Amino acid sequence: MKYALLLLLLAAARLPGKDSCLECHSQMTGDLQAPASAFQSSVHFQHGFTCADCHGGDPNSDDPDASMSKAHGFAGVPPRTAVPKLCARCHSNPNFMRKYNPSERVDQNAEYATSVHGQHLAKGDAAVATCIDCHGIHDIRAARDPLSPVYPLNLPKTCAHCHADAAHMAPYKIPTNQYADYLKSVHWEELSKRGDLSAPNCATCHGNHGAKPPAVSSVAAVCGTCHVFEEQLFDKSPHQPAFAAMSAGTCVVCHSNHAILKTSDQLLGGKNAVCGECHDPDSAGGKTAAQAAGLIQDLQSRIAAADAILEQARTSGIEVSEAILRQTDARQNLVKARANVHAFAIQAVSQPVQAGLAIAAEDYRAGEAALKEKNIRRMGLATSLAAILVTMAGLWLIIRWLHSART
Ligand code: HEC
Ligand code: HEC
Ligand code: HEC
Ligand code: HEC
Ligand code: HEC
Ligand code: HEC
Ligand code: HEC
Ligand code: HEC
Ligand code: HEC
Repeated sequence: MKYALLLLLLAAARLPGKDSCLECHSQMTGDLQAPASAFQSSVHFQHGFTCADCHGGDPNSDDPDASMSKAHGFAGVPPRTAVPKLCARCHSNPNFMRKYNPSERVDQNAEYATSVHGQHLAKGDAAVATCIDCHGIHDIRAARDPLSPVYPLNLPKTCAHCHADAAHMAPYKIPTNQYADYLKSVHWEELSKRGDLSAPNCATCHGNHGAKPPAVSSVAAVCGTCHVFEEQLFDKSPHQPAFAAMSAGTCVVCHSNHAILKTSDQLLGGKNAVCGECHDPDSAGGKTAAQAAGLIQDLQSRIAAADAILEQARTSGIEVSEAILRQTDARQNLVKARANVHAFAIQAVSQPVQAGLAIAAEDYRAGEAALKEKNIRRMGLATSLAAILVTMAGLWLIIRWLHSART
C-alpha cells in the first residue's frame, strides 16, 4: 500500500503539465509576469516545454529558492550573445528534433553563424539580430503562423526594427532606407495587396538565417530564381561581360534593389530612361534603345487600333469574336517583346513585334470588313424601304384614279 502511494506521488511530481515557474510568474506583475502570459501562445508551450527548458532550474518545486537555484541548473537571464547557443541546444540536435517534427531543418544556427549578423555576434557585437529579434522570445510561433514576426507579411517590419532605425545603425555607416524603399516596390504591392506570398520579402533575397541564400553567389543573383527568362537573356547579352567587368551587379543596375517599380516603355526611352545613363543617342546602345522603344510602341498602338474597330463592330451586332480572341496572341507578342528587351539586341525585340503586327493588321482588316458589312446591310434596308414606299405611293395613286373614274 505504502509502495503504491509512493509511486502515485512520484507520478504526480512528474505530471507533464507541472510548471511551477509558470504558475508563480503568472501571479507576478510587470517584467516578471509578461513572459508567463506570452509563453502560453508559443509553439514551445504547445509542445509541453517549460520555462526551465531555456532558463534551467526545477519546474517541479514551488519554493523559489529551490526552483531557481544554481544547484538545479538555473542560469537566470541569458546574455544576448548566448542566445543562438541556447536555441541550438535543441534546434541543432537532429535526434531530438526528429521526435517532434521529422522534416524540421536543424541548420539554423550553422547558417546563422555564416551571416553578417552571426559574424558580428561572434565578435561580441550584441546590436545585430539574434534568433529572438526575428522570432520573439517567449511567444515564439511557427513560421507559417500569420502572427509570427517572420510570416512574410510581417517580416519587413521585423527587419526594419533595426534597419530603419538611424540611431541603432549609426555605428555601421550603411543606409537605413531599405524598408522605406521596399514599401514602394512592386514586390511589396504584390505581397501585401494581392496576397501573393511568393513575392519576395527581405528574407527571400537575403536568406532566412544565412548571409546569402544557398546556391546563389550573390544577393543580386537571386532575381533570376524567379525571373528566369529575363536572367537567361541577360546572361547571353553584351551587358553580362560588360557589367561583370565593372562589378556593377546585374538586374539592380537598371531596376535598383529595394525600390523596384512597375516597369514601362518609359525605361527604354522617356522621362526615366535608363539606357541614356550610359549610352549616347547615336551609339550602338543608344540606337538599339530608341529602335526597341519605337517598335514596341508601334505594336502597342496597332493593337489598340484593332481593339477599337473590333469593339465598334461588336457593339453594332456583327460577329467578330474570332478576331477578338486572336488579339490575345498579338498581346502575348507584346509581352514577349518587352521581356526580350533583356537580350539588348534589336532582332530579339523586332521578331515578336513583327509577329504581333501581322496579327493586329489581320484583326484590323476583320474589323473593317465587319463595318463594311454593316453598311451594306444598312444600304439593303434603305433600298427595300424605298421600294415599299414607292409601291405604296403607286397603290394610293391607283386607288385615287379608280375613285375619281367612278364619280
Ligand atoms: C514561487 C515563485 C517563483 C517560482 C516558482 C519561480 N520564480 Fe522566477 N522569479 C520569481 C521572483 C520573485 C523573481 C524576481 C526576484 C529574483 O530575481 O529572485 C524571479 C526571477 C526570475 C527570473 C529573472 C532573473 C534575473 O536574473 O533577472 C527568471 C529568468 C526566472 N525567475 C525564471 C524562473 C524559472 C525558469 C523558474 C522555474 C524553474 C522560476 N523562475 C520559478 C519567482 C518565482
Ligand atoms: C525558448 C526559450 C525560453 C523559454 C521557454 C522561456 N524563456 Fe524567459 N527568456 C529567454 C531569453 C532568451 C531571455 C532574454 C531576452 C533578452 O535578452 O531580452 C529571457 C528573459 C526572461 C526574463 C527577463 C525578462 C526581462 O524583461 O528582463 C524573465 C523574467 C523570464 N525570461 C522568465 C521566463 C518564464 C517565467 C518563462 C516560462 C513562462 C520563460 N522565461 C520561458 C528565453 C526563454
Ligand atoms: C534575421 C532574422 C532571423 C534570425 C536572426 C533567425 N531567424 Fe529563424 N527564421 C527566419 C525566417 C525569415 C524564417 C522562415 C520563415 C518562413 O519560412 O517563411 C525562419 C525560420 C526558422 C525556423 C523554422 C524552420 C526553418 O528553418 O525554416 C526555425 C526553427 C528557426 N527559424 C530557428 C531559428 C534559430 C534557432 C535562430 C538562431 C540561431 C534563428 N532562427 C535566427 C528569420 C530569422
Ligand atoms: C528544449 C528544446 C528547445 C529549445 C531550447 C528551443 N526550441 Fe524552438 N522548438 C523546439 C521544438 C521541439 C519545436 C517544435 C518543432 C516543430 O513543430 O517543428 C520548436 C519550434 C520552434 C519554432 C517553430 C518552427 C516552425 O516549424 O516554424 C521556432 C521558430 C523556434 N522553435 C525557435 C526557437 C528559438 C528562437 C529558440 C531560442 C530562443 C528556441 N526555439 C529554443 C524545441 C526547442
Ligand atoms: C536587432 C537588430 C537587427 C535586426 C532585427 C536585423 N538586423 Fe540586419 N543587421 C543589424 C546590424 C547591427 C548589422 C551590421 C551592419 C553592418 O555590419 O554593416 C546588420 C547587417 C545586415 C546585413 C548586412 C549589411 C551589409 O553590411 O552588407 C543585411 C543584408 C541584413 N542585416 C539584413 C537583415 C534582414 C533581411 C533582417 C530581417 C530578416 C535583419 N537584417 C534584421 C541589425 C539587425
Ligand atoms: C528583391 C530582392 C531584395 C529584397 C526584397 C530586399 N533586398 Fe536588401 N538588398 C538586395 C540587393 C540586391 C542588395 C545589394 C547587395 C549587393 O550589392 O551585394 C541589398 C542590400 C541590402 C543591405 C545592405 C545595405 C544597402 O542598402 O546596400 C541591407 C541592410 C538590406 N539590403 C536589407 C534589406 C531589408 C531590411 C529588406 C526588407 C525591408 C530588404 N533588404 C529587401 C536585395 C533585396
Ligand atoms: C521570390 C520571387 C522573386 C524574386 C526573388 C524577385 N522577384 Fe521581381 N517579381 C516577383 C513577382 C511575383 C512580381 C510581380 C508579378 C509580376 O509582375 O511578374 C515581380 C515583379 C517584378 C518587376 C515588375 C515587372 C513588371 O511587370 O513591371 C520587376 C522589374 C522585378 N520584379 C525585378 C526584380 C529584380 C531586379 C529582382 C532582384 C533584385 C527581383 N525582381 C527578385 C517575384 C520575384
Ligand atoms: C550601367 C551602364 C549601362 C546601362 C544603363 C546600359 N548599358 Fe548597354 N552597354 C553598357 C556597356 C558598358 C556596354 C559594352 C560596351 C559597349 O559596347 O558600349 C553596353 C553594350 C550595349 C549594347 C551592345 C553595343 C555594341 O556595340 O554591340 C547594346 C545594344 C546595349 N548596350 C543596349 C542597351 C540598352 C537598350 C539599354 C537600356 C535598356 C542599356 N544598354 C543600358 C553599359 C550600359
Ligand atoms: C540595362 C538595363 C536593364 C537590365 C540590366 C535589366 N533590365 Fe529588366 N527591364 C529593363 C527595361 C528597359 C524594361 C522595360 C521594357 C518595356 O516595358 O518596354 C525592363 C522590364 C523588366 C521586367 C518587366 C517586363 C518583363 O520582362 O516581363 C522585368 C520582370 C524585368 N525587367 C526583370 C529584370 C531582371 C530579373 C533582370 C536581371 C536578370 C533585369 N530585368 C535586367 C531594363 C533592364
